[in-house]
Amino acid sequence: MEGAPERAVIFFLLLSLTVAQNITESGTDTLNVGVILHLKSLVGKMARTSILMAVEDFYAAHRSFNTKLVLHIRDSNGDDIQAASEAIDLLENYNVRAIVGPQKSSEATFVSDLGNKSQVPVISFTATNPTLSSMDVPYFLRGTLSDVAQVNTIAALIKAYGWREVVPIYEDTDYGRGIIPYLADALQEFGASMPYRSAISVSANTDQVERELYKLMTMQTRVYVVHMSANIASILFTKAKELGMMSKDYAWILTDGIS
Ligand SMILES: *[C@@H]1O[C@H](CO)[C@@H](O)[C@H](O)[C@H]1NC(C)=O
Ligand SMILES: *[C@@H]1O[C@H](CO)[C@@H](O)[C@H](O)[C@H]1NC(C)=O
Repeated sequence: MEGAPERAVIFFLLLSLTVAQNITESGTDTLNVGVILHLKSLVGKMARTSILMAVEDFYAAHRSFNTKLVLHIRDSNGDDIQAASEAIDLLENYNVRAIVGPQKSSEATFVSDLGNKSQVPVISFTATNPTLSSMDVPYFLRGTLSDVAQVNTIAALIKAYGWREVVPIYEDTDYGRGIIPYLADALQEFGASMPYRSAISVSANTDQVERELYKLMTMQTRVYVVHMSANIASILFTKAKELGMMSKDYAWILTDGIS
């Protein structure tokens, strides 16, 4: 969904090394760690496998390591409330010392608040919404780049082509909306603007996406920045191709969530 799952491996190793090492020194031998993923999604499946492999690798490389890392893997089912309720259960009943995940930025907003209150680090390797920040919530750790990291590059590309107007097409979620103000600022720096913003619901059907694309076709601006997760993006691009919008009259720029 958001970000690249292989980062989980690296991040999880870091977590194991720093947190678990300390527990060993203080004599405890079990370390409970919660993992909240959307297990039916592609990213969730990949992340689960990567995390399990990372733990195996870690113990293979540190054979004398006594602390037993116990993972409690939970399914958020892609739902904010479900993610929060799993986090509460993990914190209250399993004494987890860290939570890895959740996947989506909107889930991370809830879960990081819970972690912050309990002073348990929440480490998300996929939540890229820039408004989630360790400044306000010190127990939230982002194991990936914020989407702000991309906006200057996108703006530079737009500037290099001499385009003055751009229409962002984004999913109407925390993740989708998060990048927009930063993109607007980056464009403004060289006098470019967004005459229209196309927010698409993640539950939009093919007809709704088609109507939005027809609307876009009536506008003068034909440069788009697409910022959404893969499921809705596949509907968008299939329709855009059908409507002949994948031609040289149009420019499509994708953020790294899809590309
Ligand atoms: C390890 O534990 C000590 C004492 O409980 C604490 O002061 C220190 O910050 C911990 N270090 C890490 C890396 O968590
Ligand atoms: C997070 O926790 C810190 C320290 O425990 C606290 O100062 C801060 O206000 C909390 N942030 C939020 C958003 O609750």
